Amino acid sequence: MASFLSSLPAVSARPIPTSAFPLRKPLFQTPPTLHFKNHRFAVSCSYAEAGVNADSSSNTIDVVADVRSERIVVLGGNGFVGSAICKAAVSRGIEVISLSRSGRPTYSDAWVDQVTWISGDVFYVNWDEVLVGATAVVSTLGGFGSEEQMKRINGEANVVAVNAAKEYGIPKFILISVHDYNLPSFLLSSGYFTGKRKAESEVLSKYPNSGIVLRPAFIYGKRRVNGYELPLDLVGEPAEKILRAIENFTKPLSSLPASDLLLAPPVSVDDVALAVINGVTDDDFFGVFTIDQIKDAANKVRV
Ligand SMILES: NC(=O)c1ccc[n+]([C@@H]2O[C@H](COP(=O)([O-])OP(=O)(O)OC[C@H]3O[C@@H](n4cnc5c(N)ncnc54)[C@H](OP(=O)(O)O)[C@@H]3O)[C@@H](O)[C@H]2O)c1
Repeated sequence: MASFLSSLPAVSARPIPTSAFPLRKPLFQTPPTLHFKNHRFAVSCSYAEAGVNADSSSNTIDVVADVRSERIVVLGGNGFVGSAICKAAVSRGIEVISLSRSGRPTYSDAWVDQVTWISGDVFYVNWDEVLVGATAVVSTLGGFGSEEQMKRINGEANVVAVNAAKEYGIPKFILISVHDYNLPSFLLSSGYFTGKRKAESEVLSKYPNSGIVLRPAFIYGKRRVNGYELPLDLVGEPAEKILRAIENFTKPLSSLPASDLLLAPPVSVDDVALAVINGVTDDDFFGVFTIDQIKDAANKVRV
């Protein structure tokens, strides 16, 4: 053993210069800077790869990660379309607040627990409790009734909401409007359509570069009415398929007044909800969207 040890080369006790081992720079060469704006923030930092000399600044790589955390307010989140939007949003990790007069729905479902339900009327609500920190407002406010009621809920209610959102600096407003069904102008003068168009022009004038107006025709899906589910999809889904299959033949008819009452394809409530999600997450998506464009937008985010 002693002769084996003596055959090994002598080990020097000299200190080894540290420059012989290039140091790995810490991940954050400079403290990361976080820029917060309405729950959207960017992290910027720079780092050097292993093996790069600590003194060198020429080999650093800049990394800018744009991390967005969305928080949307759905006006009418417990309605037919609103609940599909809430459900689609929470399933994508988007924080959701719903405002409606009746508040939390009476049925239970996993997604329902993930939404913050606020009871309130859009005309009287304290917006401080609803809008602060939101990245987008989605309005499903609308409906039928007397001329006055239709003007109020389709038009004025949305105008109030758009102006509140603008005042609170919310960057995006998404309105669920309606297709015009190619109706003659005297029919488009009803409170329902004049209300819708008034709401649309408010969105587009206050949000020229981020406002979104979706114009679906009949929306099908499972609508809950007084605790029961109305399966509108039993009619809507086949109707959509048939109308899309024959649309090349029916196109010439589309110039006839009111022809779209029969020919405009219905759209599923899930497609409307997915088009909204696309609008929330894609800043290049803004303006007025037709039935086909709603479908295309939905396909972009469908998993
Ligand atoms: N369903 C369709 O086939 C179809 C087709 C084309 C376009 N649209 C449009 O899509 C939108 C949604 O339709 P929908 O079928 O989902 O309607 P909906 O089920 O009646 O939902 C409307 C929602 O608005 C809320 N709301 C009404 N007045 C309010 C107020 N003053 N303040 C706060 N919340 C209020 C309602 O809740 P509370 O009553 O509890 O307040 C409800 O949650 C409407 O604008 C409609 O015109 C629908």
